[in-house]
Amino acid sequence: MALLIQNGHIVTATDSYVADILCEEGKIAAIGRGLKAPAGDEVVDATGHYVFPGFIDPHVHIYLPFMGTFAKDDYSSASRAALAGGTTTLIEMCCPSREEDPLEGFELWLSKAEGISACDYTFHMAVSKFDDTTEEKLRKIVDRGIASFKVFLAYKNFFGVTDSELYKTLALAKELGVIVTAHCENETLVAELQQRLLAEGKTGPEWHEPSRPVQVEAEGVHHLMAFAEATGAHVYVVHTSCEPAVRAAEEARLRGVNVWIETVIPYLTLDSTYAEQPDFEGAKFVMSPPIRAKEHQEFLWNALRSRAISTVATDHAPFDCKGQKEMGRGDFTKIPNGLPSVEDRVNLLYTYGVKRGKIDLHTFVDAASTQAAKLFGLFPRKGTIALGSDADLVVHDPMYRGTISAAKHHMATDYNPYEGWPIEGRASLVTVRGEIQVRDGQFVGKDGIGQFLKRECTH
Ligand code: URP
Ligand code: ZN
Ligand code: ZN
Repeated sequence: MALLIQNGHIVTATDSYVADILCEEGKIAAIGRGLKAPAGDEVVDATGHYVFPGFIDPHVHIYLPFMGTFAKDDYSSASRAALAGGTTTLIEMCCPSREEDPLEGFELWLSKAEGISACDYTFHMAVSKFDDTTEEKLRKIVDRGIASFKVFLAYKNFFGVTDSELYKTLALAKELGVIVTAHCENETLVAELQQRLLAEGKTGPEWHEPSRPVQVEAEGVHHLMAFAEATGAHVYVVHTSCEPAVRAAEEARLRGVNVWIETVIPYLTLDSTYAEQPDFEGAKFVMSPPIRAKEHQEFLWNALRSRAISTVATDHAPFDCKGQKEMGRGDFTKIPNGLPSVEDRVNLLYTYGVKRGKIDLHTFVDAASTQAAKLFGLFPRKGTIALGSDADLVVHDPMYRGTISAAKHHMATDYNPYEGWPIEGRASLVTVRGEIQVRDGQFVGKDGIGQFLKRECTH
């Protein structure tokens, strides 16, 4: 069945105009004024609404064995949550540990999504070890349609790579045209600072940030930049939380390193005082790199507005308070790191970015959709509204007013870090390849229609 969306205010990263959009066989078949739908097809009146390209979250964790537990969502809950918030494509970190075989890991992660996800998906392939067998396996994974790797310069002995492994990964990526996404923190400094704080009896969640101060992150970025410069590989710094880390990447960019910067919605909206709340409430806000002092927020918004920061992701890594975050009572180093936010990213970015005058609508679409599509080999199939693109569309009601609450969210966690936060505007209709999956913030569609997106290496 075709779908006609009439009279919407279409906004892409570059354009803004009023028109109708006809979706046929999963694609955008026509854009214009006064389009007619074949009889019997669904017509949606989008007068007074924006129509955005489906949003892309380029950094999520869904299946994640981590810190002695497993992230709480599966593809059913995570993709429904993503869609309810207007995100139609997920790029998950496929994260086998150093002990696991990468090919088996890839198959395992794929099996968690296939036939279950309600939105489209692909993976960044983590390289947690690089031995004599790794190169051949990574080449096979790239042949399967993976165009980006992931390295961790943190989490020693679990996901973290040695410098020699980092070099080999970047050298192979350069040869293949693969972009390498990287978690940048100096893991030795983290381990030393954690031990010092614990020895001083500083065990609560408020000590997580001091155990990974901004210098730890900036050193990680600087380290990656040296390796990217030496190998010529294209790199993408994930979840950048603070001014010194952005500056380390910017400085490298100015001397010719091909680097792009991601921040995530918690760093734009929350600050370090949240992890300082009493009675272990702060554990809800423990993630790495940590949520920083308030002054970094303004810097990140400015870096986003000036496009020094390319993308706003979530780093969705959902853990319950009960039974999971609680594992770190009495020892903050054992609190599972991560926040759930895949459902709320777009609404928060719109409310606290666009509506507060920090970014314009084009930057909003660019950072939450288009740039991820371009960087990760999905453009123009995803990330824009154009003839022949996938009909992933968000009809957005700017007049909606509501609040975020765990009582009504689609994510599987028992809390929402944004509990009670007001939201201005939300998706009133979300389509995946022309199929209506969400109406008025509620998932009304079909599980399992999500497709694995095969990508070409473009770097
Ligand atoms: O705290 C975080 N960020 N948890 C998820 C794993 C990662 O480092 O991205
Ligand atoms: Zn990370
Ligand atoms: Zn992550």
